[in-house]
Amino acid sequence: MVSCYYDSEEALYPELNTTCDTTNVTFSGTIAPMLSSNCYSCHSNSTAAGKGNNIRLQDYSDVTSRAVSLAGSVKHFGNFSPMPKNGGQIKSCSIAQFDIWVRNGMVNN
Ligand code: HEC
Repeated sequence: MVSCYYDSEEALYPELNTTCDTTNVTFSGTIAPMLSSNCYSCHSNSTAAGKGNNIRLQDYSDVTSRAVSLAGSVKHFGNFSPMPKNGGQIKSCSIAQFDIWVRNGMVNN
């Protein structure tokens, strides 16, 4: 089997080889805590109006309805506004876990 650089999971998500848990990914245990530490200073229900352009990422339904732009923003893709705003990119492990959660159907677990 041959895999080119850009298709290899290790190249896209360097932390997968070390400490990244990609099997037990849940909304309450993985996604919400990640958003809480990186995003709720601007996108919680209480901060969004003042700092987050009214974009809320706290409730499950708010996260699912913004899943595409959320992924684009944390990956710094294309025309999406890079997030966290004015901060460094979140860990590649967290990006991988978000992708896995989306691929598994965005379960509210
Ligand atoms: C310092 C405040 C701040 C932080 C922290 C922050 N954001 Fe934002 N976010 C904003 C603002 C303000 C906007 C409105 C667009 C802009 O100003 O770039 C925005 C826009 C967005 C958008 C819409 C982008 C688009 O192009 O449609 C998404 C999705 C988003 N943020 C997700 C996140 C995520 C996920 C995190 C954490 C990893 C995060 N943000 C952290 C302030 C913040």
